[in-house]
Amino acid sequence: MDNLKFIEKLKNSGLNEGQAFPLREELAIFIRAVTEENDEESFRLLLSEARKVTDTYYGKDIYLRGLIEFTNYCRNDCYYCGIRRSNKNADRYRLTEDEIMSCCDTGYILGYRTFVLQGGEDLYYTPEKIAEIVRKIKKKYPDCAVTLSIGEKNREDYLLWYEAGADRYLLRHETADNIHYQALHPEEMNLDNRKKCLFTLKEIGYQVGSGFMVGSPYQTFYNLADDLIFLNELKPHMIGIGPFVPHKDTPFKDMKAGSLRETLVMIAILRLLFPKALIPATTSLGTIAKNGREQGILAGANVVMPNLSPVNVRKKYMLYDNKICTGEEAAECKVCLEKRVEKTGCRIVDARGDSLVEYRRR
Ligand code: 5AD
Ligand code: FES
Repeated sequence: MDNLKFIEKLKNSGLNEGQAFPLREELAIFIRAVTEENDEESFRLLLSEARKVTDTYYGKDIYLRGLIEFTNYCRNDCYYCGIRRSNKNADRYRLTEDEIMSCCDTGYILGYRTFVLQGGEDLYYTPEKIAEIVRKIKKKYPDCAVTLSIGEKNREDYLLWYEAGADRYLLRHETADNIHYQALHPEEMNLDNRKKCLFTLKEIGYQVGSGFMVGSPYQTFYNLADDLIFLNELKPHMIGIGPFVPHKDTPFKDMKAGSLRETLVMIAILRLLFPKALIPATTSLGTIAKNGREQGILAGANVVMPNLSPVNVRKKYMLYDNKICTGEEAAECKVCLEKRVEKTGCRIVDARGDSLVEYRRR
């Protein structure tokens, strides 16, 4: 099929409920074509159509999420990740409850209305401890959303945190293909459990975010097609994707990074297929290209997630090499991002920025 016609098809699939989802084969072929061939016309059209769809649903507003990286201890050993347990060079840290609260205090003054607590899978923070932190933040800042991003847990824990007031949960599926999943993770991890967690989180009532890395080792265009098909089953409220970037102390240190172009293509396709989803322009995208996040916004992204972690721990939360914004104070990143976003014709807003995808209201 003609690439220009296929862009129409993607758009129709997203805009009209009940319209058939594109086929795996045609998705894979299209992704390959726009990424690898010099079909500039299709590439441009894809991105501009995606941006238009974002404008229709969310306007020019870009939502802020204050990322608090509260621990880099992790019991997992994902081959791509810089804070995997086998990385003996990682300088480990944990933030105290008071330190986490002071990140929120700083963020609130700067206009943040979502706090994302992200960390490795660190059993030091018991389920009850996490619940306590969530309660404390929600009590002090009832107008803010709390997002958790702390990995695979059981239903009981997810429910406890939801009842404590957590609004959203981020857990990327990483890849929807079993064989590819096993190529990125050690044997003790499996895709079925990850998928199960995602459906459980949704059923409890969380706004759920999933996603994957673009250009991760061994990834094929068919894997990316499968990621889209899985997301269509899950129907997440948020979809986070960014390029894979190698980390020097991991088994994937010599693998090549995902490209800007392929990431932009995937952001735009996601926007056309899932018009109501919140899609961030990620830090990893800003890391591989100096205007990466701006270009992500122009391809349809509508969220940015600056760091609120204390500057003294920033360099320790290194999932990949050369991560940006590890020396800047939260206030500096806010000003920097405002300028960057302005250049795209969009604007950062101080709002919770809930998803337009349906979820159970409390
Ligand atoms: N490059 C890019 N993204 C990475 N992540 C982890 N390691 C890397 C890397 N080397 C992503 C994963 C994870 C999210 C928190 O960060 O997709 O879900
Ligand atoms: Fe952190 Fe630009 S966003 S310095």
